[in-house]
Amino acid sequence: MTTDIRPAVSAASAGEGSSLARGSSDINAATRSEGGQGVDAVVSVRSLNVYYGSFHAVTGVDFDVPRNRITALIGPSGCGKSTVLRSINRMNDLVVGARVEGQIFYHGIDICSPRVDPVEVRRRIGMVFQKPNPFPKSIYENVAWGARINGIKGNMDELVERTLRQAALWDEVKDKLKESGLALSGGQQQRLCIARTLAINPDVILMDEPASALDPISTLKIEDLMRELVRSYTIVIVTHNMQQAARVSDQTVFFSLNERRQGVLVEASPTRDLFTKPQDQRTEDYITGRFG
Ligand SMILES: Nc1ncnc2c1ncn2[C@@H]1O[C@H](COP(=O)(O)OP(=O)(O)OP(=O)(O)O)[C@@H](O)[C@H]1O
Ligand SMILES: [Mg+2]
Repeated sequence: MTTDIRPAVSAASAGEGSSLARGSSDINAATRSEGGQGVDAVVSVRSLNVYYGSFHAVTGVDFDVPRNRITALIGPSGCGKSTVLRSINRMNDLVVGARVEGQIFYHGIDICSPRVDPVEVRRRIGMVFQKPNPFPKSIYENVAWGARINGIKGNMDELVERTLRQAALWDEVKDKLKESGLALSGGQQQRLCIARTLAINPDVILMDEPASALDPISTLKIEDLMRELVRSYTIVIVTHNMQQAARVSDQTVFFSLNERRQGVLVEASPTRDLFTKPQDQRTEDYITGRFG
């Protein structure tokens, strides 16, 4: 899945021009780095600060997102999980009054640079939202749309089937592809939205509480699907559900609020370590239910 993305990006890192850059301009040296320290970091967040107007919502956030792993962002309501997630694919550009400072390296390219095209960033770093939001079109068209904007021409029937299979939805919808995506159950709609995202051929998938509106069985289906998808993709998930973070993720990043009610990163650790031997008292208080 990712093979046709990475060469383009590594070419950019090597200074051969980038399809992430706006127009034909190259990304200048100032926007390059060694690419997020950790050898296998696909995304590296550095000194991230986000403001909504004069409100400083998130301060000084640094973490790496390892390739082909699930990273879970957890923490109390209002600590900035969604804000950080939206920064990773330039979605905060669409939020009136939001301002992002710092760097977010994607394969070594700072995607916060104004010279980087946010539309291209969002194609490579896709997003699935809390509330399933299929288009009011057929199941088939929900998936085919993603492929078309990705410029894929070929056999669309084949692609729709392959993508729906990847999203673990094919068996449930193969006989009603012409029916509206809105006629599906909530869990099926969410898998349809995941299929739509996969059809755009991303490298990284961001998910903001993708299962919080679903029943326990649909939730487990989404979790199983994530474990399957992470073999080919890199996933970052926001979840309120600590059991879910513990079940599904490889790395957990815990955010909290400082005394000025700004979101801060407390600890980023392998999931097992964070839940069994937290490095910080605030993490321990949160996971043991003394706070939040
Ligand atoms: N569009 C916005 N305009 C102004 N303030 C915002 C906006 N979005 C978020 N905020 C504020 O930024 C802070 C972080 O919000 P964010 O939604 O990122 O938190 P969260 O950790 O995702 O919370 P939750 O768990 O409730 O979803 C909060 O104080 C919130 O009120
Ligand atoms: Mg949120």
